[in-house]
Amino acid sequence: TYVVTDNCIKCKYTDCVEVCPVDCFYEGENFLVIHPDECIDCGVCEPECPAEAIRPDTEPGLDKWLKLNADYADVWPNITIKKEPLEGAEEMDGVEGKFEKFFS
Ligand code: SF4
Ligand code: F3S
Repeated sequence: TYVVTDNCIKCKYTDCVEVCPVDCFYEGENFLVIHPDECIDCGVCEPECPAEAIRPDTEPGLDKWLKLNADYADVWPNITIKKEPLEGAEEMDGVEGKFEKFFS
């Protein structure tokens, strides 16, 4: 599966949702997640993210993000249509450790 990682937080560009052939993105207030049981590993979304936040789970060190994607995909609503990025997305793009900064 592919996973949405830290740099999506507070950017949420949503380009990813339009290209997914199985509509497996789910939306929270500050970022999106991919449902790991629905993702077919096509890889189409990865280059679409301006924040480079989408990674294959074969990359090392993504355990935390895999779990976060799985957990939130079960409770957040599905999103299939692109919307405006969050306000301040450009300033937030590339900020390190957003999850720790904003959610702990
Ligand atoms: Fe959707 Fe393909 Fe991205 Fe998985 S890898 S979330 S199936 S676009
Ligand atoms: Fe997030 Fe990138 Fe999609 S910033 S909403 S994963 S296009």
